[in-house]
Amino acid sequence: MKSLIDITDFSVKEIDELLNTALDIIAHPKKYSKKCKGKILATLFYEPSTRTRLSFESAMHELGGSVIGFSSADSSSASKGESFADTAKVISNYAHVIAMRTPIEGAPLVASLNASIPVINAGDGGHLHPTQTLADLLTIKREKGRLNNLTVGFCGDLKYGRTVHSLISAFSRYENINIVLISPKELKLPSYVKHDVLEKNNMPYEETTDLENSLPKLDVLYMTRVQQERFADKDEYEKLKNSYILTKEKFEKAKKDTIILHPLPRVNEISVKLDEDERACYFKQVANGKYVRMALILKLLTLAKDKTKCTLNKEGLIYNQHKCTNPKCITKTEQELDNVCKPSKTDGDVLRCVYCDKKVNK
Ligand code: CP
Repeated sequence: MKSLIDITDFSVKEIDELLNTALDIIAHPKKYSKKCKGKILATLFYEPSTRTRLSFESAMHELGGSVIGFSSADSSSASKGESFADTAKVISNYAHVIAMRTPIEGAPLVASLNASIPVINAGDGGHLHPTQTLADLLTIKREKGRLNNLTVGFCGDLKYGRTVHSLISAFSRYENINIVLISPKELKLPSYVKHDVLEKNNMPYEETTDLENSLPKLDVLYMTRVQQERFADKDEYEKLKNSYILTKEKFEKAKKDTIILHPLPRVNEISVKLDEDERACYFKQVANGKYVRMALILKLLTLAKDKTKCTLNKEGLIYNQHKCTNPKCITKTEQELDNVCKPSKTDGDVLRCVYCDKKVNK
C-alpha cells in the first residue's frame, strides 16, 4: 500500500505515469467513468478549501465512485478531542482512500501510519501540498512541453507557501532547473527546503526581493498569496500583504512565452486584467488538478491491493531524545506520539522532525 504525503514518495517515473494517465483521462473520459464503482473517498478537511476538496470529490464522482467526509474540524469529532491516529483507524472502516487537509504539520503522515487505507496529504499547514504539485507539473508539461530545462521564479510567501515547498522538491529530480526565489526577507524559503532540497541536489538558485527585474529570465512565474491565516502577528501580515502585485504593465517585461501559475486562491497579487493574457494559466491549473487527482486515486487504489501498512523507514531515526521546536507540529497536539527526528541531509549536526521537517531542540 502507498500513501502520498510528500511528493518525493513517488519517483519521477511514477509521476510521469500519473501525468500520462491524467492526459489519457482528458482525451478519453468515458473509459474511466466506472473505474471506481463501489469505491469510497473520504475527504477529511480540517481547514478551508475550495479547489482541493471539490476537485477530489468531483474526481471520485467522475470515476464512478462515491464520497463521504467533512469540511471543517468543527463538524467532526476532532472538536471533541479525537486524535488523527484514531480518526484514521475509524475512517479505514468506511472508505477506501482518504484525502486529508489540516493546519497541523505532519498530521497526514501520522494518519497514514495508522490507517489501513491510503492517505493523501491535501495540504498540512505551511509544510507540504503534493497534489497541488501534480496539478502544477501537469500544467507546465501541457503548456511548456517539458519538465526539464526551465527557469522557474517563485514569488510571494515562500516561508509558509506549502505549494512552493512541494514543487521545489519535485523539481529537484528534473534536469537543468534554475530557481529564482522572490520574496520579502520576512517570507524567505525555509532552511529545510533551501539546504536539504536545493543545495543537497546542487540546484542553481538565487534569492531576491525584485520581481520586475527577475521577469525577463523566467520560463515559469509561480505567484503565491501572502497567507493571512499563517501569521501569529497580524501587524506583520498588514505590512507584507501587498508586497507583490503583478499587473499587465509589469508583466510586459516577461518573455513572450513565460507562463504565470498560481495555486489560488488569489487576493490581489495578480491583477484580474491579466486573466485574459493567454500566458495566465492559473485557471488551467484548476482544471488539470481534477484530472491528475483522478489519476492519483486510481493509482493508490491499485497499489492498495497490497495491504501492507505504511511505516516510517527507521534507518537513521532518533526516537524520543529531542523535541520539535515548531508550535504547529503534530508532536504538539497528538497524545503519546513519539518525538522522532533525523539528521539534516546537508548538515548532520542539524536534526529535523520527521513529521514537519523543522529543527528540533538538542
Ligand atoms: N490550491 C488550493 O489548495 O486551493 P484550496 O485552498 O481552495 O483547496
